[in-house]
Formats: sequence, C-alpha cells, structure tokens
Amino acid sequence: MPGERPLHVLGIAASARKNSTSGAALDVVLARAAELGCRTKAIRLAELRLPFCDGDKTAPWPEYPAVAVLRRAVSRAHAVVLATPEYHGGMSGALKNALDLLDIPHARGKVFAGVSALGGRSNSNALNQLRTSVRWLHGWMLPDQVAIPDARSAHLDGRFQDPLVTERLTQLADALTRAARALALPVAPDHPQGRRE
Ligand SMILES: Cc1cc2nc3c(=O)[nH]c(=O)nc-3n(C[C@H](O)[C@H](O)[C@H](O)COP(=O)(O)O)c2cc1C
Repeated sequence: MPGERPLHVLGIAASARKNSTSGAALDVVLARAAELGCRTKAIRLAELRLPFCDGDKTAPWPEYPAVAVLRRAVSRAHAVVLATPEYHGGMSGALKNALDLLDIPHARGKVFAGVSALGGRSNSNALNQLRTSVRWLHGWMLPDQVAIPDARSAHLDGRFQDPLVTERLTQLADALTRAARALALPVAPDHPQGRRE
C-alpha cells in the first residue's frame, strides 16, 4: 500500500544438502515476498558457525558472532519463514538448535511460516514441531504451511516439477505478508526487539 513501510521478511534455511529442496522452496517464498514489496533476507544455517545451545538462551557468545547475526536478523524481521528438511520425523537438529539460541524477545510478535521437504510422502511432523517451538517463542504461526514430498526429485535448479508446489509456496508468501501487516509488532531497524546479544 502506498506510504506503508516495507515489511522485513527473513528466511531461515535449515538444510546443508547441495540443491536442497527446502532451500529452493524458501527462495520461491522470498521471491514472491519481494514481488509484494517486502525486504527479504535469507540465512542459510550451513553458512553460519553457530555453537550448540548450552542451556542459556540469552548467552552472548562473543566467540561466535553468528549468534548475534541470527538474533539481530530475527529481531529486525516482521515475518520469518522456517524451511526445514524432515529428519527422523521432525525438524532438522540444526534448526532446533538455532531456535534454542533465540529468546522470546527476539521472536515475540513476529509472524512465522513453515515449509518442510521430505524424502518420502508428505506429512506434517516437522511442521507440527515448528508450530510448538514458535508458540514457545511467542511468535504467531501461520495456519498455512507447505510440505514437499519426494524431495530429491521435486525440483531442478530451483524450478519445481509440480506447478502446484510453486503455487502453494506463492500462496504461503501471500498469506504471510497479509498476516504480518495485520499482526506483526512494529520493528525499528535501529532499535531491534530482543536486545540481549
Ligand atoms: C538424518 C535424516 C533423516 C531423515 N528422515 C526422514 C524422515 O523421517 N522422513 C522422510 O520422509 N525423509 C527423511 N529424510 C530424507 C530428507 O527429508 C530429504 O532427503 C531431504 O533432505 C529433504 O530436504 P532438503 O533437500 O532441503 O535437504 C531424512 C534424511 C536424513 C539425512
């Protein structure tokens, strides 16, 4: 809408696999969000050097600057897309660890959406786990979600074989931006919420 500040949409890609399907799905969602006028940013966990959460979700981790990068990116976003491979019936351990390094002030009042990619048939195991974690971080989890089956053959260079998958990812971005405009708390870039770094 004219005069409105752009929404900041952050994507977190959890897979370290080359040609990751959940990563490709995230790219589709972020591209659509950009088309809708949002500022977008992607964090690929495989490129961040994050420590294992040691039980203190507010620890400053000066020797791991990636923790501050992650916390700042979430704090400055209005909406966050979590894209995970399904591993043993759940989200990837890398993503759970990244969420464990966050505290409620980083995530409160942001709108989250989940995307999963599975080697087998579609199910909601990882997506349901994402919902639980986001609720404990006090984020708003979008009811819409996308699970992509047969992950290893689902796309070629980022183009999904099944046009329905692209359509659903696009619709997810539409729903996310609509919800973020309605629900997300304002974020001042110079005064990010969750200053606990
Ligand atoms: C440790 C591990 C566990 C997995 N567990 C499941 C599973 O429970 N269900 C399933 O359908 N696929 C499973 N897969 C297959 C992955 O979900 C799939 O190959 C792919 O990694 C999904 O996303 P990506 O392309 O973004 O990495 C597993 C793969 C690995 C490496």
